[in-house]
This record gives sequence, C-alpha cells and structure tokens, in this order.
Amino acid sequence: MAYLTLERRQKKSKVPARLDVAQSLTGLVLGLFILGHILFVSAILLGPEVAYKVDKALEASFLDPEGHGYSYLVSLAAFTIATILIVHAGLGLRKFPASFRQYRIMQDQIENLNHDETRLWLMQVVTGFILFFFGSAHVFAMMLNPGQIDPYLAAERYFGHGMWLFYLILLWAVVVHAFIGLYRVLLKWGWLCGKPRQARRTLRVVQRVLTAFYLLVGTMSILYYVKLGYERADLPLQKYGQEIQGSSSSTHP
Ligand code: HEM
Repeated sequence: MAYLTLERRQKKSKVPARLDVAQSLTGLVLGLFILGHILFVSAILLGPEVAYKVDKALEASFLDPEGHGYSYLVSLAAFTIATILIVHAGLGLRKFPASFRQYRIMQDQIENLNHDETRLWLMQVVTGFILFFFGSAHVFAMMLNPGQIDPYLAAERYFGHGMWLFYLILLWAVVVHAFIGLYRVLLKWGWLCGKPRQARRTLRVVQRVLTAFYLLVGTMSILYYVKLGYERADLPLQKYGQEIQGSSSSTHP
C-alpha cells in the first residue's frame, strides 16, 4: 500500500519543509523568550526590591499614573506564549519515535555510531515531552492568575507550596531543550560563519557554556526563593508591594 502511494505521488510535497520552517521559527521565538525570562526571574538574586521593580516594569507600571501596572498584560503575554508553545509542540510531535521499533532503531544508532547529533536529538525529545506538561501547566497558571506575580508570593509558592521541585524540573528541561534547539536551528539552516566543521565545534562550545550559565543562575534563583520562603514562613502572607506601601504610608502620614 505504501509502495502504491509513493508511485502515485509524482510531485514532491513542500509541506514537510514548510512545517520544519514553522517549527524552527516558533522554537526561535520561545528560545529567545526563555533566555530573557530566566534572567528576569533571576533578578531575585539582587534582592526582593529589584525583583519587584522588574515585575512591575513587565506589567508596564511606568505607563500607569498610579504606578500599579496592568496585570492583564501578563495574561496576554502568557496567552501568546501558550499559543506558540502549543503550535511548536504539535509540530514537534511529528518527529517523536512513533513506535517501539523506531525507538530501538534510534537507540541502536546512538550506541553503535556514537553519534553526538542523534544523542542531542534524543535529549530534545525527552525534554520536549517534559515541557509539554510542565511548561503548559506553568504558562496556564500564569495566564489564569494575573496579579499574583510578586517576590513574596513567589517565595511562598516555591517554599510553602513545595513548587521548588516543579520549577527545578522545568528549569533544567527548558534550558537543555532551548540551547540544543537554538544550536540545531543555526546548524540546520546554515546560519554559521566560517568553515562549517570549525563553526560547528565553536557553536557546540557556546551552547554548552550558555547551558551551564543559565542552569547555574536559574538554580541559584530557585534556592534564593526557597530561602526567602523559609525565612518568611512564620510571617503573615502579603505581597512585597503591600509591605512597601505600608512602610511608606507609616513614614508619610
Ligand atoms: C508569558 C508567559 C510566562 C510568564 C508570565 C511566566 C512567569 C513566571 C514567573 C512570575 C516566575 C517566578 C515564579 C513564580 O512567581 O511563581 C516564573 C518562573 C519560571 N518560569 Fe515562567 N512564565 C512564563 C512562561 C514560561 C515558559 C513558556 C517557560 C518554559 C517552558 C517558563 C519557565 C519558567 C522557569 C524554568 C521558571 C523558574 C526560573 C527560576 O526560578 O530560576 N516560563 N515564570
């Protein structure tokens, strides 16, 4: 049957190539978003005040005469990211091993050929699978709970609600996935300078260094949030914003 189908189709389809372009573009957008996102979250390493200012700036508080910002912008951003994430995941599903036989062929190739690119590809599949559940749960939580982005509330989530493990898994999966993805996009579409073999080696080094850097910064900010949550565990739960408003109103009656 498959033979007959191939015989009939004289004209080669452009659809797979177009889907590949769409997958690379959506991956590029998500990858760049994540690079910025993890750095923004890690503003907590400079203290709750800096994290609060970053949160408020992302809610465009500078446009609000009252300085509160517009939390629905977070829902809007999360909705956009969720849409791109779903499209990207849907396109990625085409490349998953569709049967145990395909999975075994891939494993054999990794073991027998000791092929680095295939190993990276397998890591993409595994981390992509994790992100499908963890990434979408996180983005939908952000989309449905605007106004809950605040350093003290985050600390309560990480420590009090035990979300640190969730974020740790999400962080490691997304960083590994994003940097392998960006490396492979540059390689696949030939966006490299210089001699291909040398450029590829350099790119692989850059990919490893950036992965290590982002994992370090991201893990440190998770630890910081856990510590902050632990220190505030016995205090009444309030936003950092409420605390500074309280202190400014007590000093300026
Ligand atoms: C517009 C969409 C998004 C918003 C508004 C958002 C917001 C946030 C916020 C506020 C935090 C701090 C923790 C908290 O307050 O609970 C956080 C942490 C995190 N987010 Fe997102 N996020 C979005 C999309 C994503 C996506 C698509 C991913 C990856 C698939 C992701 C991965 C992470 C990771 C790994 C952390 C933990 C980082 C760390 O603590 O080092 N986020 N996000």
